[in-house]
Amino acid sequence: MCSGTIRPLPDGAVAGIGGPLPVPVLLVDDRRENLAALAALLADFDLGLELVCAESGNEALRLSLRHEFALVLMDVQMPDMNGMETATLLRANPKTRQLPIVFVTAGMAEQPHQFAGYELGAVDYLIKPIEPVVLRSKVTVFCELYRHRRYQEALVAERTAELSALARELGEEVRARRAAEQTLLQLNEELEQRIDLRTGELRRAMEQIVESEKLASLGGIVAGVAHELNTPLGNIMLVATALDERFGAFAQTVQDGQLTRSVLAKAVADFREASALLLRSAGRASELIESFKAVAVDQTSARRRIFDVRATVTDILNSLGTSLRHAQVRTVVQIPDGIRMDSYPGALEQVISNLISNSIIHGFDGKGGEIVIDGRQLGAKVELEYRDNGVGIAPELQHKVFEPFYTTRLGQGGSGLGMFIVHNLTHGTLRGEIRIHSQLGAGVAVTLTLPAVAPA
Ligand SMILES: Nc1ncnc2c1ncn2[C@@H]1O[C@H](COP(=O)(O)OP(=O)(O)OP(=O)(O)O)[C@@H](O)[C@H]1O
Ligand SMILES: [Mg+2]
Repeated sequence: MCSGTIRPLPDGAVAGIGGPLPVPVLLVDDRRENLAALAALLADFDLGLELVCAESGNEALRLSLRHEFALVLMDVQMPDMNGMETATLLRANPKTRQLPIVFVTAGMAEQPHQFAGYELGAVDYLIKPIEPVVLRSKVTVFCELYRHRRYQEALVAERTAELSALARELGEEVRARRAAEQTLLQLNEELEQRIDLRTGELRRAMEQIVESEKLASLGGIVAGVAHELNTPLGNIMLVATALDERFGAFAQTVQDGQLTRSVLAKAVADFREASALLLRSAGRASELIESFKAVAVDQTSARRRIFDVRATVTDILNSLGTSLRHAQVRTVVQIPDGIRMDSYPGALEQVISNLISNSIIHGFDGKGGEIVIDGRQLGAKVELEYRDNGVGIAPELQHKVFEPFYTTRLGQGGSGLGMFIVHNLTHGTLRGEIRIHSQLGAGVAVTLTLPAVAPA
C-alpha cells in the first residue's frame, strides 16, 4: 500500500484533470502505524494516489530530491529531525522549494505551532484525529493542481516539439531557398556572361557588315564616278581627236601656202569651239572629281570645336549671301541663342550649303523662294529643321535622294552626290540622323537630329 520507492511516471500518462495519471504523495512519519493508518485512509478515497512513505525527515529529503511529489503529508514531531526542520530544508532547496507541505499532528495543535508551520511554507495544517472528509477535500485539491500542472507541462512540451519541428522545417526551407537563390544567381551570372559574349559577337558581326557595306558603297561610288567621268572624258577624247585632225589639215594648208584670210578665220572659229567644248568637258570632269573628293573626305581630319549653332548657321547664310540674293531667296533663322555644340562645324556648314544649293537649283528653279532654318535643344540633342517652299519631291522618290548619283538634272550639272554627301556627313562625322519629308508642290523639309556633343 505504501512503498519506500516510487515507480517512474509512464510517458504520456497525462490524461488531463481527473484522468488516470497517478499522483505521487509523500507521507512522512517516524511511526509505521501512523503511516499505515494515513495510507489506508487515503487509499479509501480512491483518488489514484501513488503513496510513498518516509520514516524520517532525512528519508523524506532524499526521496523528494529524487522524485517529484504532488504533496507531502508530514508529521511534525519526529526524532532526529522534526517536521519543521525538514520543511526548512525542503524550502532551502530550489528543487523542492515549491513542494506543498501539509503538517499532520496530534500533539502540537496550539496556535503558535501552527503559525510557525505556516511561516515555513506549509500550505496547511491537519490536527489529529483527522476528519476524513477534510483530508479528502484537501488532498483532492492538490491532486487536481498536480494533474493540471502536468497537463500544462505536457501541453507545453507538445507545443515546443511542434514548434521545433516547424523551426526545423523552416530551417530546411530557408536552406533550400538559399540554395535556389544561389543557383539563380549563378545562372544569372552565366546568362550575363553569355549575353556579353553574344553582344560582342554581334558587335563584331555588325562591324563587319558596316565594313563590307562601306566597301560596297565605295565600290558603287567608284563605278558611278567611272561611269560619270566617261561622258566628259569621252567628249574630250572626241574633240581632241577632231581638233588634232583639224589642226593637221590646217598645218598642211599653211605648208601648201594656201592660207587665206577666210581659211584662217574658219580655223580660228573651229579651234575656239573645240577649246570651249574641251573646257566644258574638262570642267565637268573636274567637278565630278571634287564631289568625289568630298564623299571620300577623311572624317578624322575635320576640325572639332565648341560652337554656337545660331551663329554658325548665320555665318553660312552670310557666306552664301550673293548666291541667295541672286536667286531671290529670303532666309529666316529661328534658332535661340546659346545652343552650343561640341562637334564639327565644317561638316554642318557643308550639309547646310548643299541643302541651300538644292533648294536654289531644284526647289526654286530660278523663281526665288523662302528658306527657314529652325533649331532647338532636346536634352543631349540638337534638332535642326531646314525647310524650303519650292516644288518639293514626289513621295515615291524621297528615298532615292540619298543614293549616290541619283539626280533629276543629269547632263545639266547635277551629279547626284549632294544629298549622298549630306547623309554621310550627318551620320558619319556629326553622328546624327537625317529625315526628309516633302510633298510635291509643298517644298522640302529636312530634319537633322544631332548629338550636342559628338561621340569621340
Ligand atoms: N530642295 C529640293 N527641292 C526639290 N528637289 C530636290 C531638293 N533637294 C534635292 N532634290 C532632288 O534630289 C536629287 C538629288 O539631289 P542631290 O543633291 O543628291 O543631287 P543633285 O543636286 O542633283 O546633284 P549635285 O548635288 O551632286 O550637284 C536632285 O536631283 C533633286 O531631284
Ligand atoms: Mg545637290
